[in-house]
Amino acid sequence: MKTYNLAVIPGDGIGVHVTDAAMEVLDVAGAKFGFEMAKTSFPWSCEYYLETGAMMPADGIETLRGFDAIYLGAVGWPETVPDSVSLHGLLLPIRKAFNQYANIRPHRLLPGIEGPLRATGFDILCIRENTEGEYSGAGGRVHQGRENEVATEVAIFTRAGVERILRFGFEQARARRGHLTSVTKSNAQKYSMVFWDEMTDLVAKDYPDVTVSHMHIDAMAAKMVMAPQDLDVIVASNLFGDILTDLGAAIQGGLGFAASANICPDRSGPSMFEPVHGSAPDIAGQNIANPIAAIWSAAQMLEHLGEAAASEAVMAALEATTRRGVGTRPGASSTDEITAAVKTALSAGPQA
Ligand code: NAD
Ligand code: IPM
Ligand code: MN
Repeated sequence: MKTYNLAVIPGDGIGVHVTDAAMEVLDVAGAKFGFEMAKTSFPWSCEYYLETGAMMPADGIETLRGFDAIYLGAVGWPETVPDSVSLHGLLLPIRKAFNQYANIRPHRLLPGIEGPLRATGFDILCIRENTEGEYSGAGGRVHQGRENEVATEVAIFTRAGVERILRFGFEQARARRGHLTSVTKSNAQKYSMVFWDEMTDLVAKDYPDVTVSHMHIDAMAAKMVMAPQDLDVIVASNLFGDILTDLGAAIQGGLGFAASANICPDRSGPSMFEPVHGSAPDIAGQNIANPIAAIWSAAQMLEHLGEAAASEAVMAALEATTRRGVGTRPGASSTDEITAAVKTALSAGPQA
């Protein structure tokens, strides 16, 4: 039997609950499709930080390197550990260390779900640059606490980094409906975003079968609300992609529906799978977190590992669940009820 070695980092808050849900579904998928997920769980979290003074051990990255994939719930508990410490101590270093430069975030409505808007019939794939740009970590503060204090956050866009994420986006567009929208703010940001626009036009020459649009981030925010059905693949920088994908989650029905895959395309290291949402301290421990985003992220992981049939079966089980009205409205079904319904639908669905 094929065995995959999976590193599991449940993290904080609802991250723990939705990870449990996703792991249960993976076990059902494995039993049905003939593979085993050998899971090693790591307690790295804000609690771990309070105990040890670090979000993960010094050799944490080296420990993760040997795994086939990483599954992460959510990180952050701002009440006890500042986000600037927790996220820079765990999630963001993993994305960078393993060159997970392509963050794939799909946005579409599952059956039976009505988003808060009237938008229907959309199927968007957001490709978010995941290792540089506004998240480069460059910058600093001078004259801290004084009248003349200055803080900088330097967005760094390298030619290699921009080219590779655009190529990744064009490949996705080519395999889908053949349209790519590159999102910038080049009317205001005259260096990095003008450069990104130029790179888009340059890379586009290699993809004559893909039609290309340029949009500014502000206009794109409106477009995703007003006419998301017109969009296919979106490619955006790290920060713009972050913001647009919470908006994408909203038109899907909420944060509990948006999945995310942090892909290392050259497979020099493991890729990481996690829902778009965070640890949701406001609902943690109440058994009301929606596990659908987490389970969908697990389906992305199965596809990445080469278990396409199992991935499709998990997606079909999610669709069967929401079609029955389970998990479609916030708070109407518990985390456990939704998870059980998905497992039942998966068991009942077609065999491999
Ligand atoms: P959040 O995504 O945790 O929550 C935003 C809102 O969406 C909350 O009202 C929450 O209850 C709701 N929500 C989120 N996921 C849900 C789900 N599965 N089902 C139902 N409702 C859900 O964002 P936040 O409040 O800005 O962040 C909380 C913490 O999580 C912070 O520490 C933040 O930095 C961190 N965070 C981590 C990640 C990650 O690890 N990938 C992502 C985003 C935020
Ligand atoms: C996400 C999150 C993270 C990000 C935070 C928690 C650093 O919002 O995965 O979307 O901005 O990438
Ligand atoms: Mn985000």
